[in-house]
Amino acid sequence: MTPLISVNKLSKRFPGVRALHEVQFELMAGEVHALMGENGAGKSTLMKILAGVYTRDSGDILYDGQSVAFASPREAQAAGVGIIHQELQLMNHLSVAQNIFIGREPRGRLGLFLDEDKLNAQAREILGRMHVPLDPRTLVGSLTVASQQMVEIAKALSFDSRVLIMDEPTSALNDAEIAELFRIIRQLKARGVGIIYISHKMDELKQISDRVTVLRDGEYVATVSTADTSVQAIIGMMVGRTLADVAPYEGPRSEGEVALEVKHLNAGPLVRDVSFTLRKGEILGFAGLMGAGRTEVARAVFGADPIESGEVFVKGVKAPIKKPSDAVAHSIGYLSEDRKRFGLATGMDVESNIVMSNLGKFLSMNLFLRRSHIRWTASHFINLLAIRTPSATQQVRLLSGGNQQKIVIAKWLERDCDVLFFDEPTRGIDVGAKSEIYKLLRALAEQGKAIVMISSELPEILRMSDRIVVMCEGRITGELSASEATQERIMHLATQRETLQAA
Ligand SMILES: Nc1ncnc2c1ncn2[C@@H]1O[C@H](COP(=O)(O)OP(=O)(O)OP(=O)(O)O)[C@@H](O)[C@H]1O
Ligand SMILES: [Mg+2]
Repeated sequence: MTPLISVNKLSKRFPGVRALHEVQFELMAGEVHALMGENGAGKSTLMKILAGVYTRDSGDILYDGQSVAFASPREAQAAGVGIIHQELQLMNHLSVAQNIFIGREPRGRLGLFLDEDKLNAQAREILGRMHVPLDPRTLVGSLTVASQQMVEIAKALSFDSRVLIMDEPTSALNDAEIAELFRIIRQLKARGVGIIYISHKMDELKQISDRVTVLRDGEYVATVSTADTSVQAIIGMMVGRTLADVAPYEGPRSEGEVALEVKHLNAGPLVRDVSFTLRKGEILGFAGLMGAGRTEVARAVFGADPIESGEVFVKGVKAPIKKPSDAVAHSIGYLSEDRKRFGLATGMDVESNIVMSNLGKFLSMNLFLRRSHIRWTASHFINLLAIRTPSATQQVRLLSGGNQQKIVIAKWLERDCDVLFFDEPTRGIDVGAKSEIYKLLRALAEQGKAIVMISSELPEILRMSDRIVVMCEGRITGELSASEATQERIMHLATQRETLQAA
């Protein structure tokens, strides 16, 4: 059988970066082929070349046995190669339906006017097929990241693609949404569509992929059949060494003083009567389903969203926080889950982003000292977090997705806050860097920082937390100590309202 796609000796350089070097890759019809590799390994670059976003420097691409070189995404799409990008590319000021059919909107009889009804009906049909309860008329900018991700997927499905590339499609989805996506993938596979699947969630590999190709430092490592290979072996190929796992939690440390106390906080429908305390040296896990209100609690405490009522105490003193700068003045930091919207100035360079939130400190120095200190700080964090960038003056938008996430972390570590909210800190981060970040969070706690870690990955919550607060529909439904917490108990609390309503 002729492969649907066959890539040979493909190379691509960016200024200062060898992104791909003589890479090979093959995709069969009806196959789900996972593409794995660490942050910056070259996965997105390879996919963007296939989808006509970038041009290659050298090498061959055969599509159905024919040599191709797509000059634009539109050309690739017309030939049947579709892509769902890692960073969402939607128009916030347009509706869901307009985003799905952008550039292909159905017209009225004279071809002059947009046929809104038809547009919305077509969008409703696709969303219905996906079992996604979204109103096609909603503005995309008002949706959660998870819903926006679903719109991207709907858009890709609206073309009848023969090859569908999915670059980290599940990074913002909850378990039910992932199950839905996998159902759609299996449907497409049964129709003979070839799917290239990129993810840093190792457990998804076994569930969905037939074969795996591993890239490392822009080079091809191997292609293996998923069924015959262990996840551990794939990780070994990705990182080129065996990973030391973070030691599991080892019982409570001595109790530190209270760093933050939140009392009866109300802020919108997703923050209802929320109270909790956080101690120095502690990692407090926030668990719950997507939309339970965890991010909203962090945003309210940080002053990013208005508080209706309730009080926040920092080290026992009442702290009236009305805007993020108030929170920062009280040494509270918040690492946003949505790095593009709140975390980064992507048009600025790496070092400016790292020192940005702490400019005052640098401005008090003279020009010469300032320059050298900024340089030193940036290179310190580039090393500490193993950020892959050709230099400290590279624009952040040119880094790979996972490396952008690391910049957000660096930025807040530089600020040296006493209380830190980490919202999905390992989203989009590769397995190796994940364990580095776990070690870092532990080290921060040991230095006496007080940490809230919001995460949708239960194993991560269980492994890292001293205590776990569980939320459901805007309320705290329970608190568990590390020793009593299990996945089952957390899930039970996370779905408590539903069980209550059913009873
Ligand atoms: N437009 C660009 N200009 C300059 N360098 C780039 C550009 N796009 C990617 N790179 C660099 O090429 C390398 C590969 O990046 P790529 O985005 O393909 O990685 P990735 O495997 O998708 O990583 P991640 O898991 O973090 O998404 C990185 O070093 C990145 O910084
Ligand atoms: Mg990528």
